[in-house]
Amino acid sequence: MSKTAATLTDKTLPENVSTLIDLILEENPMHNSFIQNALGHVTEEELSTLDSYLDFCQSKGQNLPYMADAYLTIVGDTFREQLYFMKHKEYRHKSYADVAGHVYDDKDYMNKYMYGLAITSFLWPNHLDMGRLFVETMPQTRNGKYLDIGPGHGYYLMKAMELGSFDEFLGIDISEASINQTGAILDHFKPEFKERFELRLMDFLDATELEAGSFDAIVMGEVLEHVEQPDVFLKRIAELAKDDAYIYVTTCINAPAVDHIFLWRSTEELEKMIEGTGLKIKTPLRLPYEGKTLEESQAEELSINVAYVLEK
Ligand SMILES: C[S@@+](CC[C@H](N)C(=O)[O-])C[C@H]1O[C@@H](n2cnc3c(N)ncnc32)[C@H](O)[C@@H]1O
Repeated sequence: MSKTAATLTDKTLPENVSTLIDLILEENPMHNSFIQNALGHVTEEELSTLDSYLDFCQSKGQNLPYMADAYLTIVGDTFREQLYFMKHKEYRHKSYADVAGHVYDDKDYMNKYMYGLAITSFLWPNHLDMGRLFVETMPQTRNGKYLDIGPGHGYYLMKAMELGSFDEFLGIDISEASINQTGAILDHFKPEFKERFELRLMDFLDATELEAGSFDAIVMGEVLEHVEQPDVFLKRIAELAKDDAYIYVTTCINAPAVDHIFLWRSTEELEKMIEGTGLKIKTPLRLPYEGKTLEESQAEELSINVAYVLEK
């Protein structure tokens, strides 16, 4: 029999979160120990933020069973891709064309994927740690222009508005579903920013109109592994950033997912690429697979998450 959220933690769980976890465990009781560990990691304040996010989702017509299903879709799809990766030692897909139709351009799937991904920002300890690095390092008093490449669910762009003092925000995403979700979360939580942000539906590399050296902050979470030429993305970031800009990038190593197409097999391989693009690593966060060291994760080809504050 599946456990309930309340039996897995001493923390006080807000109502939406408690119901969401109960629904997840009802559907997938094997996820018990993972959730127990996750609840040990997340703070009550972060749980309360997740609760507000779930309020927002419900206000947009996504009820909690849908949100539980969105989360479990990511869990199930990732597990299937992990099995493929263990067998073939490479990601299933290699090009944007391989994944565009069934991910970015499939509105129903993409919506589910982005809602589910937002939940992992709280329930997956590595994702939570990467988000904490962002919150800790994002400059709070700097003005100017802020660029988010691939905002997806829009949670981090919304957070930047909440925490920072930037004047203008630009989000560029290749998926219409992501652009709509980002627009909705900003309208809901930050209506006062209505005149100060712009969202563009396009490939970041096609945004040739952007002016070199014009951005004070550039954030790109979980996009590099989705593109065919991550080094070109990084070079373009270096070009667009002001000399002292805040640059925050996250990605992953040996981390199969339905739409991951660029595979790094070690942090060294990735970091060599980053440093070959005119960017320097200021603050690295290298997060091994749960229960393993970084060396073990690399040797055993297990997923590693990484977040970096970069500088020119
Ligand atoms: C995995 S989501 C990441 C969402 C969010 N940034 C985060 O850190 O959780 C990746 C997002 O990047 C977008 N994306 C992928 N390739 C892109 C490209 N070439 N240009 C712009 N956006 C892209 C996808 O549509 C999706 O919304």
